[in-house]
Parts: sequence; structure tokens; C-alpha cells
Amino acid sequence: MAKVRAVFRCTECGTTVPKWAGRCPGCEEWNTLIEELESASSSSSALLGPRDRPTPISEVDVAEWQARPTGIGELDRVLGGGLVPGSVTLIGGEPGIGKSTLLLQAMASIAAEGVTVLYISAEESKQQVKLRAERLGALQPTLWLASETSLPHILDDIDEIAPTVVIVDSIQSVHHPDISSAPGSVSQVRECAARLVATAKSRDLAIVLVGHVTKEGGLAGPRVLEHVVDTVLAFEGDRHHALRLLRAAKHRFGATDQLGLFEMTEDGLAGVPDPSRLFLADRRKGVSGSVVVPTMEGHRPLLVELQALVTRSPLASPRRSSQGVDSGRVSLLLAVLAERAGFSFAEADVYALAVGGVKVAEPAADLGLALALASALASQPLPADLVVCGEVGLGGELRQVSHCDRRLAEAARLGFTRALVPRLAPDPPDGIVAIRVGTLAEAIEAIGIRPDTRSTAPSTARSTARSPNGAESRRESPSED
Ligand code: TYD
Ligand code: MG
Repeated sequence: MAKVRAVFRCTECGTTVPKWAGRCPGCEEWNTLIEELESASSSSSALLGPRDRPTPISEVDVAEWQARPTGIGELDRVLGGGLVPGSVTLIGGEPGIGKSTLLLQAMASIAAEGVTVLYISAEESKQQVKLRAERLGALQPTLWLASETSLPHILDDIDEIAPTVVIVDSIQSVHHPDISSAPGSVSQVRECAARLVATAKSRDLAIVLVGHVTKEGGLAGPRVLEHVVDTVLAFEGDRHHALRLLRAAKHRFGATDQLGLFEMTEDGLAGVPDPSRLFLADRRKGVSGSVVVPTMEGHRPLLVELQALVTRSPLASPRRSSQGVDSGRVSLLLAVLAERAGFSFAEADVYALAVGGVKVAEPAADLGLALALASALASQPLPADLVVCGEVGLGGELRQVSHCDRRLAEAARLGFTRALVPRLAPDPPDGIVAIRVGTLAEAIEAIGIRPDTRSTAPSTARSTARSPNGAESRRESPSED
């Protein structure tokens, strides 16, 4: 009989330690170590496939590694063409984000070509899946369904149906009876995934695993699977918004810089052909604290509205709240605004967000975010036809951003006519005029925003400049404090 010993394993990163601790020594997350029984003989032998003989590199046959399009354009864009035979793809995302919906739609589209597809639903009954498939128009004769959680049964199903593509929804609900740990534990998830990977390779099957990303409920984080699989996709979005973003976090068959955009509708997920227009659809012009920034998501320019709200705070340490923008970046910009441009938020609660449930992480949005904050503090709106891009340094200086031309072309396409850009930015495309500025203070001058009376900080010196509308801005001297 196999020897069994107890170990503690991190549900986030998979680090194993012999004794329980509050904090994982591997990833330094708190309360992620879970006791597991590890059987000494559990793994490896079952994974030993046929030996692969060495081949001269020039003679390696790549014909079989042609990606098969899923027919879902935005998914194929992120996959760099489609699913590769013999590969395993992990799609991670929070519960309810739409992973099952996306995969059912993709499988129906593949099955519509007459390809045999097996959908293993380890969480929902066949009836539930069928009802959803009916709604999505996904009833295809070569789309097979099994509601199964036991890995040996799943492998039998694969033997019987001989599918070309297999979905396992979700890997955390699958277990192998030979492994003593509970379903969802790291050993189970890792072992089951490893066996599915071996099956995919030996049968030239494309397998897609669904993985929930959550710490609650003791489910093993998909991070423990990332090195086992070929491709890791992250399906993101705010559950309260319709927009969903699909990105590749790891991709052995292509680039990881593509973005897929979907909208959750009554008839399932629909690709979003013009995301910038969608993001700006509800924008109100002439409101203070609102700025449009052209961001890059991989190769795609996207116009996103950033909003800030500043209110007088009753608290000794005022509130700082951000959604979709990095809170550390907001703090940094508040400090730069105070020290380099004379806008103090010391007694103010500050709220900042990216509209539409997107996350804007790139430094190119700094200037836009800083101007949204300044505009909110001063209660003065920015011009409605203006977009802003530039990275802000601690000295208040502005740095260039990558792909400036692509960003501004997207802005011009959507009717923006002016762009506030760092001094050395390349010439803008037709239809849009560049307003070049060297510092954050100059940018604020250029759009004619001034700290209003609510500001309590000492003002720093600012050079006299003319704003585009011709109003001369005042020169302020540093006050002694
Ligand atoms: P689901 O694919 O079950 O999410 P996951 O597998 O990631 O947990 O989808 C969850 C949500 O999507 C669910 O709350 C209902 C919604 N939904 C729609 O709005 N329209 C649809 O056509 C479908 C199938 C689901
Ligand atoms: Mg699901």
C-alpha cells in the first residue's frame, strides 16, 4: 500500500511545507496553506507516455500544429488563430464572468463544421447545459455532453467519443479517486491536469480547462496549473458591466499581447467590434473630473474615459478610492500635483475610476488621470474634444508614450480634434492637433485649469503660458509656509 503523509500546500502558488503556517513562504499570501494527504506513489508512473525519439530540428513536422479556428473572432484573435491540436489551454476567471458561455459558443461553432467536440460539465447537469445551449443556438449533432467529475470516467469518455476538442468545465471540480486529497485541492487539480495534458499530447487533442479564480471555498488557484498548460487565458471584467476582456497571460503558440472584447448579451457573448465607441457611449461632456485617454491594449488602441471626484473630507485621514486605475499611481499623482503644480488634496476625499469596468494600468494614462484629478478639484471641465496622453515623472516632467500615432488616430476616428501630448511626441495624424507640453504644470496651464479656493496647499511657481483659448494664466509665487 502507498505510504501517506500529511503536508500543507498553498492554494495560490502550490508551495509545500511540512508544518502549518499563517503565511505561505512561497508567495507570502496569508491563510492559503491547506492540509493535504500526499501519497508517495500517486503521480508520475501514470504519466509515462511513449518515448519521443530525438529528431534533427529541421525535420520536425509542424503540419499538425496548425491552429483550428474556433469561429469566435475575438477568441481566435487572442489565441493567435485558434486551438492547436495536442495543446492544453486554461481559461481562468471569476465565477459568473461567462467562461462556460464562451466555451459553449465556441464549441458549437467548431461542431457546426462537423468536428466532434466533447463538453465535460463537472459543475452543471446535462439538462442545465442543454437549456443554455438552446438559448445560445448551440445544439449541434457533433457536440457531445457529459456531466462527469471523475477523471478515469472522463478519460473513458474521450476514448469512446474520440473527439477533436475537449472542454473540462471546471478543472477544480474534477477528481481522481487514486489521490486521497479532497476535490479542488492542489494535489487533485495538479494531478488531474497533468493527466489531461498527457492525454492531449498523446492523442493530438485540443483540451480547454476552465479554472475559477477565487480564494474563497478553498479552490486551488489556477496559478498552480500555469506551468503545466500551454496557454493561459484570463477572462476578466466587472460582473456588473456587460463588457468582458480576454487576454493571454501565457501562450506557447503566439503573442500574449492581443485583447479580445466581448459584451454579455441575452443571447450570450457577442464580440465588440468598436470598443472605443462603446466605452464613450454614455459620456457626458462638460463635466469636471472627466478625461478621455487613448490607451493601448496589446496592439489595439482603446479610448477610455477616466473620472475623478474630489469632495471635502470630514476625516482626519481622507479617503482614497480607485476602481480600474492603480491606487498607488493615484497616490503618486496626487503627490506630484501637490508638489509640482500647486494642487493640494490634503483635506479632500478622492475617488478615481476607469469607466466601463476596464482596468487602465499603463503609465501613458498618467497625464490623463492627473488632469482628471486637477479638473475635479478645481470643478472645471476639460474641453470635450480633447484627449490626453503622457507619462508623468516625479519631477512633474512628461515622458513620451509608445504608439502615439495609433492612439491619436483612434481618437481622430472618434471625432476628437485636439490631443495634449508630451513635447517630443511625433506629429499627430490628420484631423487632430497636438498641444505639446513639457510638464504637468504646463499641461494644466494649457487647458486653463486653476486650483480653486478649496485648495489649501501652498502654490508652487508656475511659468506664464497662454492657454489654447487665449486666456493668459497667472504666475504664482511660492508662499512661505
Ligand atoms: P457563465 O458562463 O455561467 O459563467 P462562468 O462559467 O464563468 O461561471 O455565465 C454567467 C452569467 O452570464 C450568468 O450570470 C448569466 C449570464 N448570461 C447572460 O447574460 N446571457 C447569456 O446568454 C448567458 C448564457 C449567460
Ligand atoms: Mg461555468
